[in-house]
Amino acid sequence: MTTPDRIRQALAPAHALVELTPFAQALAGGRVGRADYVAGLRQMGYLHEALEAALAAAAPRHPGVAALYDPAKMDRVASIARDLAALGEEQIDAPAAPAARLAEAVAGWATAKPWALLGALYVVEGSRMGSMVLARSVGKALGRDPRQPDTGLDYHADGLATRPQDWRQFRQALADLPVTEAEADDICHAAAVTMDGMVELYAALPVRAATEATLAAV
Ligand code: HEM
Repeated sequence: MTTPDRIRQALAPAHALVELTPFAQALAGGRVGRADYVAGLRQMGYLHEALEAALAAAAPRHPGVAALYDPAKMDRVASIARDLAALGEEQIDAPAAPAARLAEAVAGWATAKPWALLGALYVVEGSRMGSMVLARSVGKALGRDPRQPDTGLDYHADGLATRPQDWRQFRQALADLPVTEAEADDICHAAAVTMDGMVELYAALPVRAATEATLAAV
């Protein structure tokens, strides 16, 4: 089985779990509140900051990372910063435990086994497939048009025009990458650790808007 196929199989149960978290349900159901969305984006921002720093450090040290990691297309910190500016960020949250743990894992891979970062990259790049749906539902919830840049939805909307093709190409490039069996194991393991961390991160996110609505209805 190819490395991306192994990862796909390994991630499926955790993906089902993440979709069941109240935060993901609010995102997909078009009813996430602005403050909650901002809180989620900030936590994702901590992960992306760590991952981008790690990938930039690892690319010169591992040809596989250099081959698959395209900062111009894949970096997300800038789009998160644009979204936070557009959505109005009234408080700076510290990284919560799941984001801090993931950032620590990513930094550890960068030092000890840079190729493992491709597993983490798989998860965040793959999550853009979900973004094809979420750009619309989050846009509906926040009253913003995902086709308009700089309105707070760039994290999900950036690169959508070429999305399914870019994802197919990434998976193919990973399948074709000449890696040892041990390196492939590390990449799969890192993808699973990252996805499990995403489940924890999502499970810890607030869904205050729904609570407020429920209280208002009482
Ligand atoms: C409401 C939340 C979410 C929805 C509705 C959603 C939906 C989707 C959809 C429709 C796909 C494409 C499936 C396919 O090609 O057959 C996908 C793929 C994927 N999603 Fe999500 N997703 C959500 C959250 C997440 C999160 C939080 C992550 C992790 C950061 C994530 C990671 C992935 C990955 C890695 C893939 C690619 C799987 C593969 O092809 O191997 N998703 N998602």
